[in-house]
Amino acid sequence: MQQNTIYKKIREAVEVIQQHSKIQPEIGLILGSGLGSIAELATEAVTIPYSQIPHFHNPSVEGHAGKMVIGKINQIPVVLLQGRFHLYEGHSMEDVVFPTRTICGLGIHSLVLTNAAGGINTRFRPGDVMLIEDHLNLMGDNPLRGPNLSQLGPRFPDLSEAYHRGCLAAFKKTAEELKINFHTGTYAGLLGPTYETPAEVRMLRTLGADAVGMSTVPESIAANHLGVQVAGVSCITNLAAGLSPHKLSHQEVMDTSAQTAEKMKNLILNTLPKLTQKGKTNA
Ligand code: HPA
Repeated sequence: MQQNTIYKKIREAVEVIQQHSKIQPEIGLILGSGLGSIAELATEAVTIPYSQIPHFHNPSVEGHAGKMVIGKINQIPVVLLQGRFHLYEGHSMEDVVFPTRTICGLGIHSLVLTNAAGGINTRFRPGDVMLIEDHLNLMGDNPLRGPNLSQLGPRFPDLSEAYHRGCLAAFKKTAEELKINFHTGTYAGLLGPTYETPAEVRMLRTLGADAVGMSTVPESIAANHLGVQVAGVSCITNLAAGLSPHKLSHQEVMDTSAQTAEKMKNLILNTLPKLTQKGKTNA
């Protein structure tokens, strides 16, 4: 049965990871395009290539390394994923969220999703940080489609706090303390791999989106299903199509996110101690 198979696969991956490191992570981080250097924050780090973890694929996208790092950031035990799988790469939704489910299976209570995104809100500039308040799932699929995996969570999970308010408050507080300029807003997740047309960007703005990207939404849904609280941080790498005089390129996305990584690192380093279990934060 599909249900048992996925559960079994997660347990197999968890078991192998636990053979590599004795650290029991409390917080997971998934690092988006060009943001892999955030893993440099980890001390006592053990790196596990995805090729050594059962049922993990290798990311095909430049800027996504394909490594898991387990260690500590600011004394907090963490697991980081350098590289994620996207639906546009041709993976199934099940494969896209497999790493998320696996790190949730390691026992984390919070998951921080980072990504590179195009700015739709006209106040946004490349290099800005947007703390995700909510998302629009415009991928045309859902990782929970199919028989419900009852060992993982309920058939009809509530998503009224897909981005946990306590975690969001913790990120806001840190950004204010560090005087990091930030926005909050709604992330629209699209299938890709094409960037949007200007007409699609106008549509997305009308729908209430502030930023657009090709990830994060499936991972947030899968983690919420498992009862793990989620925070999302977008690095606005470019103005969305039609808003800037030049054409979009993956190089621009990678360059801007690399330039913003220091700011993101500082934000994450100082927020992790404020993220605590289940509804409560020290913020
Ligand atoms: N659109 C979609 N995904 C993206 C963008 C964009 O403009 N920038 C970075 N990821």
